[in-house]
Amino acid sequence: MTGERFAALWGSLSPIGIAGGDGGYLRHSWTDADMVCREWFVEEAIDRDLEVEVDRNGNLWAWWGAPDGEGAVVTGSHLDSVPHGGGYDGPLGVVSGLLAIDRLRERGVTPTRPLAVVVFTEEEGARFGVPCLGSRLLTGAFDPAQALRLQDRDGIHLAEAMGKAGLDVDTLGPDPDRLARIGAFVELHVEQGRALDVLDAPVGVASGIWPHGRYRLDFSGEGNHAGTTRMLDRHDPMLTLAHTVLAADEAARSHGAHATVGRVDVAPNATNAIAARASAWLDARAADTDTLDRLVNAIRQRAEQRAMHDGTHVALHAESVTGEVAFAGDVSRLAALELGVPVLPTAAGHDAGVLSKHVDTAMLFVRNPTGISHAPQESATDADCAAGVEKLTDLLARLCQ
Ligand code: GLV
Ligand code: MN
Ligand code: MN
Repeated sequence: MTGERFAALWGSLSPIGIAGGDGGYLRHSWTDADMVCREWFVEEAIDRDLEVEVDRNGNLWAWWGAPDGEGAVVTGSHLDSVPHGGGYDGPLGVVSGLLAIDRLRERGVTPTRPLAVVVFTEEEGARFGVPCLGSRLLTGAFDPAQALRLQDRDGIHLAEAMGKAGLDVDTLGPDPDRLARIGAFVELHVEQGRALDVLDAPVGVASGIWPHGRYRLDFSGEGNHAGTTRMLDRHDPMLTLAHTVLAADEAARSHGAHATVGRVDVAPNATNAIAARASAWLDARAADTDTLDRLVNAIRQRAEQRAMHDGTHVALHAESVTGEVAFAGDVSRLAALELGVPVLPTAAGHDAGVLSKHVDTAMLFVRNPTGISHAPQESATDADCAAGVEKLTDLLARLCQ
């Protein structure tokens, strides 16, 4: 596979959902941009004589071979993005999966088991708040009734968004038969750090994923006039929030972990009023579950102490928590042994992590020279992406024959 050939298919997807001046993407699930991406996938699959299916959770599958055959080898990723995210996080795995099927055919591989490229829905949780929603619903890791109640920032329920896209939301939920037919899953993904760049390697294999979680902190105080309220009389939830952001940063550093507050929502959000309420979303990640628990508890305690000082109130709710993942099965071992590429851990979440609890799973990473992700500067060269396709093809060829 040449870089030019990779670029030809990449170029047919990359203009969809560009967010504006910064070159980032807005491809939130079930929006117009996401629907165009999904149509793009269906067309590419049909062009390759693959049989396309939408499963009961809105995930898309393109089959080479019988969709109801046993021991299927599945590759793929997601097409949705974070707000103003990069173009590679997700789509690289989907494009590479389609190109790997082309390469398998060119190499004359005759699979003895079905092969599929999958597009999981709402991997980022950027619209409805729960990451890897499509794979969690498929595997039974998220309650469908709870999923239907999820709302986006405009108050639109998941049920409404999926219904509008033509899906029957009454069938949302675990799909154990589908899951049982998958023998191996391989997700190729752009690296979201600079480890491969430092190692001067275009492709790597994942060893595991740090446990991580999303927590909403709701702060409440007393809304009041910004000009007339004496400093002594204030109960300002923004102060508690600001202190909590600093406390999260300090606690993450002292625990050797990661904590981020990248989203806040303030009410009434007026320049000349002390806020009455505010919410902040904490993203916390650590190398092991015990450290993650201690980190989140430390942040909660610091927030509560500060709330006492400010005369405000704070409550922390876990919106989603994902346990530690070790890619330690045969497929991952095969990838590590056969591909001759570095093995590295990651602190980013992936559908592969969710699938790995049920299916023998591996992940491949493609070098990202900027090391930046979830931002427009995320990048990968065409040559490295082509190298990723070749390694993915090598692995799929070993798995499907
Ligand atoms: C997924 O991209 C994550 O937030 O880790
Ligand atoms: Mn992501
Ligand atoms: Mn991703």
